[in-house]
Amino acid sequence: MKVVYPGSFDPPTFGHLDVIKRGSELFSEVHVCILHNSSKKSSLFSVEERVNMLKEVAGNIPNVFVDFYDGLLIDYVKSRNLDAIIRGLREITDFGEELRMAQANRSFSGGIETLFLAADPTHSFISASMVREFASFGKTVEQFVPEPVLLKINEKLKG
Ligand code: PNS
Repeated sequence: MKVVYPGSFDPPTFGHLDVIKRGSELFSEVHVCILHNSSKKSSLFSVEERVNMLKEVAGNIPNVFVDFYDGLLIDYVKSRNLDAIIRGLREITDFGEELRMAQANRSFSGGIETLFLAADPTHSFISASMVREFASFGKTVEQFVPEPVLLKINEKLKG
């Protein structure tokens, strides 16, 4: 199966990387795709910066491809001939929104399924928004993001 792992990835975290790696062991291809989340009004990194960071941290995995798409996730899945969507679930509060999204995507697409990977407990409280918030107040976030991402965060926030 060829799957898409969609998200905002602003910035990519160790939690995202864990889903990408585990997905790459389960599926023949994992297309990591940056899409727009309409509930997120501003972003720290441009789409191009996020593509570059994802390529740096996961581009060495042979069956992982990094992409972006300005449109609906289900249209991306169809246009690339992919089989399913994967998402990570960190904790129970993720579940309601993820379930709604999976059901809406399945209904509007006529059957595209979403498969969930349970987050590794070491990553279950990491979120990109938490990383952005702590970093913007000068806290070090090295335990939450891969080194190339940490460098980009420091560059961006210092200047
Ligand atoms: O990392 P995020 O912000 O939780 O990812 C959410 C994302 C980007 C996957 C979602 O907002 C999305 O699929 N956006 C693309 C537009 C779309 O298809 N919207 C319908 C979702 S029900």
